[in-house]
Amino acid sequence: MAYIELKEVSKAFAGKSVVKDVSLEIERSTVTGIMGRSGSGKTTLLRMLSGLETPDYGEITIDGVKVFSSKEKINVAPEKRNVGMVFQEYALWPHMNAGQHIAFVLEAKKIPSKKRPALIKKYLALIRMEGRETSYPGQLSGGEKQRLALARALAQEPRILLLDEPFSSLDKELKEGFREEIKRVRETLETTILYVTHNSEDLEGLADNMARIEKGKIIMQGRL
Ligand SMILES: Nc1ncnc2c1ncn2[C@@H]1O[C@H](COP(=O)(O)OP(=O)(O)O)[C@@H](O)[C@H]1O
Ligand SMILES: [Mg+2]
Repeated sequence: MAYIELKEVSKAFAGKSVVKDVSLEIERSTVTGIMGRSGSGKTTLLRMLSGLETPDYGEITIDGVKVFSSKEKINVAPEKRNVGMVFQEYALWPHMNAGQHIAFVLEAKKIPSKKRPALIKKYLALIRMEGRETSYPGQLSGGEKQRLALARALAQEPRILLLDEPFSSLDKELKEGFREEIKRVRETLETTILYVTHNSEDLEGLADNMARIEKGKIIMQGRL
């Protein structure tokens, strides 16, 4: 059995079908890129995996445990799925500095406050932002904001990391940097990574596996 399995997952909004019978199998510690145009259902698919959106039909299994099943009426809450997500617009908190972003996650995980500063250091170092604890989102560049969003997701120690269009608002140089960041995360933490993009170039040299989504349907999938 694959590490992540989606079976015939479907979702409609106000009667309009946006994800249709999506079945996918993803192996542990791999990087999968899903490519599709704007409006093809990519974000909805990621949100259903993380538990932020409830499918209408289908089944989602992570590491042998069903987290969603329409038939069996199973729907595991997002905080119990241990899936980290980096949103397309980063969703940082303007009134919190970099250290506080990570501390917030550590607190939610009930990590004792004594242990938090060292962990904050560790995650900031992982994204090459050592010593930036007291910087606020408004003081960070676009690339730094995205890396902070990544560090916040990693501080959860997620078993799966979802990235929504991680390259769409980065220029060529930053894009290259963030690719290296993702590769490093994969190598050091062995996280299973799934990202979506509208640009086929974003799959090359990063994803082990790819899928193509069109109007909510997976029309192609394979190894790269
Ligand atoms: N909460 C929602 N309510 C109504 N329609 C939605 C909602 N979320 C997404 N949609 C619609 O579903 C379709 C797919 O959206 P989305 O998953 O965001 O696609 P993508 O990320 O590929 O651009 C779009 O037509 C979008 O307008
Ligand atoms: Mg989207």
